[in-house]
Amino acid sequence: MEEISLSGRVAVVTGAGGGLGRAYALELARRGAAVLVNDTGGSLDGTGHTSAAGVVVDEIRAQGGRAEANGDTVSTPEGGEGIIAAAVDAFGRVDAVVNNAGILRDKSFGKLDWDDFHAVQDVHLRGSAYVSQPAFRVMREQGFGRFVFISSNAGTFGSFGQSSYGSAKAGIIGLAQVVAIEGQRHGILSNVVCPLARTRMTEAVLAQNDAFAPGHVAPLVAYLSSERCQETHQVFSAGAGHFARVFTGLTAGWQADPAEVATAEDVAEHMSRIIDTSSHSIPLSAPEELEMLAPYVAARAATGSRA
Ligand code: NAI
Repeated sequence: MEEISLSGRVAVVTGAGGGLGRAYALELARRGAAVLVNDTGGSLDGTGHTSAAGVVVDEIRAQGGRAEANGDTVSTPEGGEGIIAAAVDAFGRVDAVVNNAGILRDKSFGKLDWDDFHAVQDVHLRGSAYVSQPAFRVMREQGFGRFVFISSNAGTFGSFGQSSYGSAKAGIIGLAQVVAIEGQRHGILSNVVCPLARTRMTEAVLAQNDAFAPGHVAPLVAYLSSERCQETHQVFSAGAGHFARVFTGLTAGWQADPAEVATAEDVAEHMSRIIDTSSHSIPLSAPEELEMLAPYVAARAATGSRA
């Protein structure tokens, strides 16, 4: 297969001063992209600053790549604007954005502190939007763009103690899907990666061995950032060399008699059919779900029954 090159392309990777973001930045640069390496360089809870981004830029340059450092926060609209403006100032365009910056402030739901909840939402969900909107505008002008949003299995499947993080990560999927739908006619594709890798964020839960090295996630991010990628509106899981699709589907379900209004007892009686996934479809937009319901809706409309 022909090599995937990012030569002539410009990529922005947020939170690229360490962990997974560093691996993405190195791989994108190795494939020829000029990379804006963004990171505030704080601790895991988002406090403090270091020049982590500059260290990764030095690494990329030492390997012959092109990179610039940026220390703006993703968590404000001004920070998001500043990050994209820095990429345009340094390299003239923005072809790919990897929304990777993240913090953790885990607490069980009953003990949740709203300042922590808001800080986590600000970096993950709002941060992804603050960086992506100015990038979207640049990409729309170019008629080309690739977004990689970083979510988590805490958002797709849930995880104890991670109500702030999981809700922000699930919100990122909603954002990415709307960007995919709105971007497609401008040549802008948008996908989500739920990584699994050994970093400071996961050192307590993932095995301390090379199976979960961040470098195993970077190939998917490089592909999704490239011109070769034609997928959009997809969510992927990637870790330890395993790559899979995560999807939200609609079961075939159960349809009440079109002439009747279902009761709570009817719902209880048919619950096993309602949740049975053996037959399902995957709508690619909200209107597509409505289209799938159209035959049921028409049958009900024909009977004239009302709830
Ligand atoms: P990490 O803590 O090494 O990386 C996160 C980076 O984001 C840090 O370098 C941090 O300084 C930076 N950052 C934090 N707040 C920022 C802000 N306001 N502006 C700019 N940069 C900021 O952790 P890791 O594991 O590399 O995480 C990267 C992304 O992957 C995160 O979004 C995380 O939620 C996600 N993720 C990681 C998983 C894993 O298995 N490691 C699992 C699922 C998701």
